[in-house]
Parts: sequence; structure tokens; C-alpha cells
Amino acid sequence: MVGFGPGAEEHMSFRAKSAIAESDVVIGYTTYIKLVKDLLEGKEVVRKGMTEEIDRCIEAYEQAKLGKKVSLISSGDIGVYGMAGPTYEVLLKAGWTPKSDISVEIIPGSTALSACASLVGAPLTHDFCSISLSDLLTPWPTIARRLDAVAQADFVIALYNPKSGRRTQQIVEAQKTFLKYRDPATPVAIVKSAYRRRQAIQLVRLDEMADQEIGMLTTVLIGNSSTYIEQGLMITPRGYSNKYNDITGDAKEGEQAGRSLTMGLEGWKACLREYLAQHTELSWEKIADYFNVPIGEVFSAIAQAPDDNNLNYQAAKIDSHHLNQAVNACKKWGRLRGVIRTESGAIVELFLQGEEFKQKADWLSIENDAFHLHINWSKVSSAYFAARKDKSYGLHFFDQHGQLVFRVLLTKQEGGFNSTLLNSFQQDWQLLGQKEIQE
Ligand SMILES: C[S@@+](CC[C@H](N)C(=O)[O-])C[C@H]1O[C@@H](n2cnc3c(N)ncnc32)[C@H](O)[C@@H]1O
Repeated sequence: MVGFGPGAEEHMSFRAKSAIAESDVVIGYTTYIKLVKDLLEGKEVVRKGMTEEIDRCIEAYEQAKLGKKVSLISSGDIGVYGMAGPTYEVLLKAGWTPKSDISVEIIPGSTALSACASLVGAPLTHDFCSISLSDLLTPWPTIARRLDAVAQADFVIALYNPKSGRRTQQIVEAQKTFLKYRDPATPVAIVKSAYRRRQAIQLVRLDEMADQEIGMLTTVLIGNSSTYIEQGLMITPRGYSNKYNDITGDAKEGEQAGRSLTMGLEGWKACLREYLAQHTELSWEKIADYFNVPIGEVFSAIAQAPDDNNLNYQAAKIDSHHLNQAVNACKKWGRLRGVIRTESGAIVELFLQGEEFKQKADWLSIENDAFHLHINWSKVSSAYFAARKDKSYGLHFFDQHGQLVFRVLLTKQEGGFNSTLLNSFQQDWQLLGQKEIQE
């Protein structure tokens, strides 16, 4: 299985060329056969149409069974949206194993995304991913969900199979999805027939993308939030500016060459706590937004603070097998403010008595004359006690993604917290929290 790169012979690997040279038979899609025609003299050539992919695999196996050396060729990398997968599926279904007499070799090639990137600058020097817009074999909702996830996660993205004569709206839908999360001016490279005769390159803005000439032989590269165009080059920074004053200058204060950033895995929670200490006015939600993390991570960071840390905030995780006890505990804390956030952004605040909570199967409910509240308890996977001195004391429940399911907070009476109820809250914290509350 030979990936011969984007098209031009000089971009073909040495092994790809030698494999074709060694072969008795070369099998491929008509266009691919044309691209390697100079290497085919004296060989048996089997040309197949675009939709005959499985036929190509079967033909390759049949020819190999006759004792011939066969090259099944594909442009780019044969393992990237290529024939490697279907060929193994056909072989394994036919009873072939890696130990059988017919040996199989996959020869990698330069795939379209790296070939196209090389022609426009350096757009892929940070995290990227690829999505094929072809819905011939993949349901559109699957493609749409992936587009949404990567658009949101700020990956640079390569769109393979962006458009064809029949499939014209997929690129329009992709553009709409990206515009939900990215600046309309985000750079986009549209590269057609890279390293082939009709090579054409367009550098445009995201909001112009779907109006351009795009076809079957085009790959579209969409930048992330830091990608820029300068001197006609599309560049995605590697992140040197996070650490160094200038790309060739000294490390910034607190950063060390060869070490994780202060905002790396080891350090970022300490950074968050420092930010919290400096911004006492900000809500937990605002802190989570600032660090672009689920709110549960904010509580986890506070709960992991060293004991001597004099924070305005404190939090303690509750053991997962104590979650029911935590709900029972709040029954003793008098009048409470319940806060529920819906996924679509509505915030519901209710005054309730913890003792009204009733647990039935998967539901935690309160039904009274004023409201019916039903919380899907099976969604709750972690909980934290949290306190903000003299301002807020309560219990916060999160789902497995760290999103808030609900919280209950002690309420003030006549401008202050009732000391008996606050004592009761603190005792429950000492009993159920993994970390003690500090006075
Ligand atoms: C079925 S995929 C095959 C991908 C191939 N195996 C690879 O690794 O590049 C076909 C898609 O690859 C992209 N493509 C392949 N060759 C290309 C080239 N020379 N220039 C631009 N895009 C190309 C286009 O998006 C095209 O629709």
C-alpha cells in the first residue's frame, strides 16, 4: 500500500518509488495512475473509478494470491482517508493474517494537510486536527458534532473533501459552525491541487471561505485564534511568546527554559488561586471563564490549596460515597438559596428549606406550593463544600464534566449569618469534607 504524496514526483518518498519499481502490478484510481505514469513502464496497470475502492482492494488481494508483487497506490498518505483501512478490512474478512504467505507493507506519504500547509507558510505549528466533510460514508450529525467540538476547542483544522459537484452545502455549514466560535477575520488557506499542475492558493478570511472556488482537489486550512497572515504567509505561533520576551530573548519572569510553563500542569492551579486572592470581587463563574475551565476545576484548585494558604476562598471535596450524606446535611442549615443553571444559560434561584429535599430513585426533588424542583441526581458525580469568608457558605454539586448541576447556599438573616446554622454547616464540613475548614 503506497502513499505517493501530494502529486509531484520529487515529493514522493524514496521507498514509495522503489516499491512501485519492484511491483509487477500497480492498482489505483485513474487520476492516481496518471500522476505516477512515468514510473509504470513494463508494469501491469489496473485503473479503477473513484467509487470502486473495495474493488481495488479485492483486486490487489487476488493479484497477490497469484504470487505477484502488487502496489496499491493512493495520493498523500494511504492511511489518511485512504485505502489502508478498507484493504485491511477486506484482507481480514478473507481470512488473511499478518503471518500468512502474503506480506503487507504500508508506505507512508506526505498527506494533503502537510503538503498544503507547506505552500502557505506554517499554519500547523500548533495543535491541529482534520475532518473530512464527506458525508458519503459518515452521517452528517457525526461530522457536525466533530466540527463543533474542534471549532470550540480552538484547533487549527484541515478540512478534507470540502466540496464536490453534488456536495456543495457542507462547507457552508462548516463555516457557520466556525463563525460561532471564531473571529470572522480568522485566516483560511484554500489550497487546490498542491504540487500538481493546476495548483492554486487562496488566502481569505473565515467569513469569505464558503464563497471561494473549492472543489474535490482542495484542502481548506482554518487558523486558530492566534493564527495570523503576514507578508502573504499564514502562521500559527508555537507559543514562544508565552515564555520569552522576544522569540530570541530571555525567559519571562517566573518562566524557565526547558521547564513547563507556570501555567503548565503542575502550576496552573496555583496561578488560579493567586488570581482568586487578587480578585475577591469575581464570582466563581467569572474565574472559570477567565481560565477557560469548567467551574468544577476552580473548586478543585481551591481544595488543593496548601493548608497555610490564606485564601479568601476555601473548598473541600466530598468523597463520592458521601454525596447523599451531604444532601442530608443541608437539611439542618435552615433557609437556603438554591441555584440551578440550565445548559442554555438560564439561572434559576429559589429559596428553599433543605429539609424539603426528597430523594426518589434518580431524582432529588422538592415539591411545594411555589415550585416543583427535580434534579437528576444520577448526573451528580462530585461535590464541594465552599466558603467565601462572611459572604457565602454552601454546597456545590457537579456533573462528570465539572459543570455545575446545582448549589445550595446559606442565607443571611438581618445582614449576617445565623451563628447556630453556620456552626452546623462547619461541623458537616469537618465531618464530610476531605479537607478541614479553617477559621
Ligand atoms: C479521499 S481524500 C485522500 C487523502 C490522501 N490520502 C492524503 O493523505 O492526502 C481526498 C482529499 O484529500 C485532499 N487532497 C488530496 N490531494 C490533494 C492535493 N494535492 N492538494 C490539495 N488537497 C488534496 C482533498 O481535500 C481531497 O478532497
